[in-house]
Amino acid sequence: MSAASAQTASADLYRTMSTLRAVRRLRTDPIPPDVLERVLQAACWAPTGGNQQPWRVVVATDPAVKQGLSDIYGPEWAKYTGGFMKRLEGLPSDEFAKWERVIAAGDYLADHLHEAPAILLFCANPAMMAITDAKLDRVSMVGGGSVYPAVQNLMLACAAEGLGCTLTTLHCFREDEVKSLLQIPDGWATVAMVPIGYPVGKGNGPITRLPPANMAYRDMFGQAWTS
Ligand SMILES: Cc1cc2nc3c(=O)[nH]c(=O)nc-3n(C[C@H](O)[C@H](O)[C@H](O)COP(=O)(O)O)c2cc1C
Repeated sequence: MSAASAQTASADLYRTMSTLRAVRRLRTDPIPPDVLERVLQAACWAPTGGNQQPWRVVVATDPAVKQGLSDIYGPEWAKYTGGFMKRLEGLPSDEFAKWERVIAAGDYLADHLHEAPAILLFCANPAMMAITDAKLDRVSMVGGGSVYPAVQNLMLACAAEGLGCTLTTLHCFREDEVKSLLQIPDGWATVAMVPIGYPVGKGNGPITRLPPANMAYRDMFGQAWTS
């Protein structure tokens, strides 16, 4: 690769990362098999602890299976947003309006989930992982690190292919039903459900995130980051 094309490729990567957002309004158009294969390949490139690749993904395209996932997700979304809207009371009106737009997009996804051309259910097997914080007296975090990079790779690849998607997790409240629907064996946990499809509107675009000045510290936790 020449220096110039390497520069373009890295600019494309940064652009993709900085515009990757939750795209909740998806068209029903099918995703060509070669595109699906490429985004799945991107997921497989992700790092995992000890290179064990302790995750699998069920790609739901069958209408009955997608309807089953939608029937599980929809009521959980409704419960979640009921509580969420209460917490927003009293926010300045522009902030409130912003959240209302997010909720409206989420409502759309919940109502149309079964119409997404593909719903990807990422699973992981803790027995295949060395979970170094499993015995600490707090919620364990490390195991997810051998799955979520694969999810993120997939989502970045989707963006590069012009597809939209959203990482969702509300199905976990009813994991038993999801496992029985998809015949996920004992020992496997569900980690993320990612509906993907071509966007109804603009799709990926500007995002709002805190910058390094808020997120990074120099040498000691809490010490200002100076570049
Ligand atoms: C761990 C995790 C769980 C999430 N669960 C859901 C979900 O169940 N439903 C949903 O609509 N979005 C879900 N999201 C998407 C986030 O709400 C979204 O990424 C965040 O609000 C930022 O929005 P933006 O990417 O559009 O800027 C989840 C994201 C993450 C990282």
